[in-house]
Amino acid sequence: MKTIVAVDNKWGIGKNNKLLFDLKADMRHFVEHTRGKTVLMGYNTLLSLPNGMPLKGRKNIVLYPDGDYNDAAQKGYILARSLDELSALLKECGNDEAYVIGGAMMYKTMLPYCEEAIITKVDADGEATVFFDDLDKLDNWQCVKISEPVEDCGYTIRFCVYKNTNPLQF
Ligand SMILES: NC(=O)c1ccc[n+]([C@@H]2O[C@H](COP(=O)([O-])OP(=O)(O)OC[C@H]3O[C@@H](n4cnc5c(N)ncnc54)[C@H](OP(=O)(O)O)[C@@H]3O)[C@@H](O)[C@H]2O)c1
Repeated sequence: MKTIVAVDNKWGIGKNNKLLFDLKADMRHFVEHTRGKTVLMGYNTLLSLPNGMPLKGRKNIVLYPDGDYNDAAQKGYILARSLDELSALLKECGNDEAYVIGGAMMYKTMLPYCEEAIITKVDADGEATVFFDDLDKLDNWQCVKISEPVEDCGYTIRFCVYKNTNPLQF
């Protein structure tokens, strides 16, 4: 399993249940990675998507203990009401094909199980209220790739890859 996220220079990822930046090149990068794959998200992230609808062209699994299976079926996402349920669903689709796409709570829970983190670093302070773990401070995470800087909608961004040297089994 992998995770994908855009962080500011304090590892901030969002505020007011919104992304910090509107970035076109980063959005393309996100789509290229996740197209045709399974995406795992928390309920707030589903709500933050346009019209609260799942992402097209991907299998969307939403972790939400109070969720309603009928609502999920109607909107076209798969509901997991517990981590056990999520684990069973992931076994069906194969961990390798799954990306954890947020938000803060979901990232925190799933990070130890991810083998790879695909991080877009935005050189700015987005005044975030929710954060991703600072991987540069975690012993088991190593940065293995940093792209050249890319200009994206007025921001300088870098595409990075981190590897987990000791991922847990989910
Ligand atoms: N920068 C990025 O790349 C990026 C990507 C995605 C999202 N974001 C941002 O992240 C923010 C949202 O983060 P968030 O933490 O509020 O939302 P979240 O993780 O999307 O959703 C939280 C909700 O999902 C359920 N959930 C998540 N993890 C769970 C767990 N381990 N066990 C049980 N239930 C779990 C909980 O439901 P219950 O309330 O029922 O417990 C919880 O309320 C927004 O600002 C969004 O824009 C940023």
